[in-house]
Amino acid sequence: MRVLQVSAELYPLLKTGGLADVAGALPAALRRAGVDVRLLLPGFPAVREAVADWQPVATMTAPWGETAAVLASVWNGSMLYLVDAPALYARPGSPYVDAQGVAYADNHRRFALLGHAAAALAAGLDPHWRAQIVHAHDWHAALAPALIHQARARRGLGGTTATTVFTVHNLSYQGVFPKALFDDLGLPASVFGIHGIEFHGQVSFMKAGLQYADRLTTVSPTYAREIQGHEQGCGLDGLLRTRRDVLSGILNGVDTEVWNPAVDTALARAFDARHLTPRAENKAALQRQFGLEPVAEALLFGVVSRLTEQKGLDLVLAGLPELLARGGQLVVLGSGDAELEAAFRTAAKAHPHAVAVHIGYDETLSHRVFAGTDVTLVPSRFEPCGLTQMYALAYGSLPLVHRVGGLADTVADVTLENLADGSATGFVFDGFDRAAFSAALRRAFALRARKAAWRRVQRTAMEQRFDWDSAAARYVALYRSLLSAEAVDATA
Ligand code: ADP
Ligand code: GLC
Repeated sequence: MRVLQVSAELYPLLKTGGLADVAGALPAALRRAGVDVRLLLPGFPAVREAVADWQPVATMTAPWGETAAVLASVWNGSMLYLVDAPALYARPGSPYVDAQGVAYADNHRRFALLGHAAAALAAGLDPHWRAQIVHAHDWHAALAPALIHQARARRGLGGTTATTVFTVHNLSYQGVFPKALFDDLGLPASVFGIHGIEFHGQVSFMKAGLQYADRLTTVSPTYAREIQGHEQGCGLDGLLRTRRDVLSGILNGVDTEVWNPAVDTALARAFDARHLTPRAENKAALQRQFGLEPVAEALLFGVVSRLTEQKGLDLVLAGLPELLARGGQLVVLGSGDAELEAAFRTAAKAHPHAVAVHIGYDETLSHRVFAGTDVTLVPSRFEPCGLTQMYALAYGSLPLVHRVGGLADTVADVTLENLADGSATGFVFDGFDRAAFSAALRRAFALRARKAAWRRVQRTAMEQRFDWDSAAARYVALYRSLLSAEAVDATA
């Protein structure tokens, strides 16, 4: 089965969040499951320059007349296609925003072209390989399902028989543009309507994916249910309810090639679930690196996060007095909203021996934070899957999380019954408010006072397996269902 994965990011070449981790790890797991998977990305400099031996495949013309080349090379064992259009993509840094953090004015073109390239690869642009299934990730790739749907309607007239999967990593980023830009997208006028890609008078890329993909997935089962409701539906819950028969949640995995404390060279000392004593050296090293008081007993909390409203870090700020009063310490690694950055900087200045902040993006340091902290805080307002709590579990830093989305699906609270049956892995609170967060903090301190119980929970946490092979098996089952539906269709 030939599958084309389409995404804007790819770890380790270009990453702003978990999407890159998923796009980077899923192809290898799919290959292990026997899928002939290829990747397609926009020609961002970070990707173009990191891979050698680009070969031309074909050229294509965008609806607005611009010519682009599609190139191919091998990356990490998979064929990687690149849309080469320097006028659109040759901008260093973030794939979405300029140096001031402002979204590029031509983003609709930049990501429409990605969709067109995907549709072309499903229609035979590469004479040696034609995608049977196009698997598009997030709004950046969401025009592909709409274009393929249109092309299928023209079957026999140079159309395609490809089918599509659209994965929602985060429904709150939708790719919404003014209606005036619709003509650039290369879709028939009939598509601009409530049953098409119109969203309150504007054009929505996210809606293009949700409306036209043959199968929809989200990155956790709980999030798949949540987005069908008003609270988390971001205005699209009605559409999602009408498509619930084709919507499912497939939990992300952890790439153990990247996240394994037993062989992680970023750490001061390797450790595993059976040998936890050396873990203390990582805590001491982290306290040293961040200039915190080197107290082994201080309960050390960590945050590794984009600093955005989604992540609920205002609760961490609100709960900080309590955390400090109980003798805790906090390290924060993150970047994002200026206000949150400033608030954490101020807290660090006020408590230099107990709070430390590194504003920025640092992959190596993130490994050290998971390995050296006792608790990882992920109090997100909503969380489609969340990878940081899974990395924290693997590294024995007990996650403290809000019971939403993938956080609810991956962390088991330290209730008496979970402690009794050995399934507890962290601290889970209901209701996004200060009191609930505070109570979870107190549970963390209470468990810490019971050394043996803490160790048991830590071991259980580290023994959790969120592996990509299980996730890939679920995607393969989904792809199979599409291929058999297609076969039935073709004989009809
Ligand atoms: P999201 O994709 O919403 O940001 P995830 O938890 O799925 O949330 O993924 C976040 C990814 O980005 C993880 O790999 C996490 O370790 C990483 N990350 C976030 N902020 C930083 C940072 N400042 N430095 C290094 N890695 C970070
Ligand atoms: C998004 C979500 C996050 C998820 C990631 C990878 O960025 O915010 O919850 O883990 O995608 O699927």
